[in-house]
Amino acid sequence: MSVDVLLGLQWGDEGKGKIVDVMAPSYKIVARFQGGPNAGHTLEFDGIKHVLHQIPSGIFREEIKNIIGNGVVLDPVIFCQEVAALKDRGVDVISNLYISNKAQLILPTHGLLDACYEQSKGNEKIGSTLKGIGPTYQDKIARLGLRVGDLLADDFMHRYQALTEKHRSILDFYGFSYQLEEKERVFFQAVESLRKFRITDTTYLINKEIRNGSSVLAEGAQGSLLDIDFGSYPFVTSSNTMIAGVCSGLGVAPSTINQVYGIFKAYCTRVGSGPFPTELHNETGEKLRKIGNEFGATTGRPRRCGWLDLPALKYAIMINGVTQLFMMKADVLSDFEEIKVCTHYKLPDGQVTEELPFDINHLKIEPEYDTFPGWEQDLRGIDDFDRMPGELLAYVDYLERKLEVPISIVSVGPDRTQTILKGKNLAI
Ligand code: GDP
Ligand code: IMO
Ligand code: MG
Repeated sequence: MSVDVLLGLQWGDEGKGKIVDVMAPSYKIVARFQGGPNAGHTLEFDGIKHVLHQIPSGIFREEIKNIIGNGVVLDPVIFCQEVAALKDRGVDVISNLYISNKAQLILPTHGLLDACYEQSKGNEKIGSTLKGIGPTYQDKIARLGLRVGDLLADDFMHRYQALTEKHRSILDFYGFSYQLEEKERVFFQAVESLRKFRITDTTYLINKEIRNGSSVLAEGAQGSLLDIDFGSYPFVTSSNTMIAGVCSGLGVAPSTINQVYGIFKAYCTRVGSGPFPTELHNETGEKLRKIGNEFGATTGRPRRCGWLDLPALKYAIMINGVTQLFMMKADVLSDFEEIKVCTHYKLPDGQVTEELPFDINHLKIEPEYDTFPGWEQDLRGIDDFDRMPGELLAYVDYLERKLEVPISIVSVGPDRTQTILKGKNLAI
């Protein structure tokens, strides 16, 4: 069988957790391939809301194997908090979670370095979640990092001390003040618990499963516009959030990839710094934030809000080879008399383009919009595509024509059940 992939096409928080949870029963494996606790994936069902950070969103389905792949950076402390929260909900994580021995470990000093680097950037700060993501990937690429499998080695303590000594000298160089003792105590306690989990070579596990006919859903974290190579650098995260990250983060061949599901909100949000051409600094932006409850699932920060950006969406579809689109949070637009969609960017030299300019961080971009009448109708209770209001159907039809990819899900609420599927394109 093959690997289907779900990728965020914007700046993260598109609703990946919800959709993975909805789709999971059609798969035998759900796997995270990149990112770490910077992610906050929200699921809602039976009146309960749950936020996952590192554990894949298939964890609530007993029959599914969940994999934390080699491309992930794992924080043992946050991991244990997630496990405890799941246990409270009656979810037995230990029996259906597999952790790659090659995933990188986030150490307490990585978090401190993250804070230190952000502080040193002043006004140029990325707006990192401060979970230690950048410094951990930095150590991975510098070939200094510690991996989850190293926890089982006799000399782990020695290697931990050697690496943290390096980190301390960097922190001292910056004159960054910190307290490490308590953080280390909690870290080593968490490490003890983590050692009891199934730490294994998930590359063999997943490839054997694929060969034996199992279907895999790869769960992206963040979004394509935060990709280290293709996002609005340097205002990005430190991993490949786009399709290439699946192969390098799980050890699966490109030829195993089948469907590439691209997920986007019916409007746009961004949390943290960096360019956002369609951002609304007005009442409409406030209204989107309020109705959409746009506050970060990981940090609680207010998300910046704006209209849908087609040049950015087309770019994300192009680099990922998206085969089907899922449009989220259509219900949030129900209260808007008028809805806008950016079709082009007007650059300061008068040039009108559909392409993201290299110096997007510095250029003053003027978005050009198409305007649509809103549907101004409650979407609750609608479970059939054809029963959606005419204006919403027209919006979907317009986007499909512009994006040249079918929209096969329209989501109309945070709950599992508030999901409208189109036809039988999906194996849900
Ligand atoms: P993720 O990081 O992509 O998994 O997304 P987040 O969980 O960070 O943010 C998405 C937010 O929107 C969460 O609070 C979800 O519960 C919520 N959500 C998901 N789909 C919908 C939807 O269709 N309508 C509404 N109103 N909320 C949604
Ligand atoms: P999910 O998976 C939204 C943003 C941060 C910051 C930048 C770098 O829930 O969609 P980092 O901590 O990675 O160094 O932060 O990326 N960011 C996210 N924004 N959703 C996420 O994940 C994010 N993960 C990181 O706000 O701007
Ligand atoms: Mg999120």
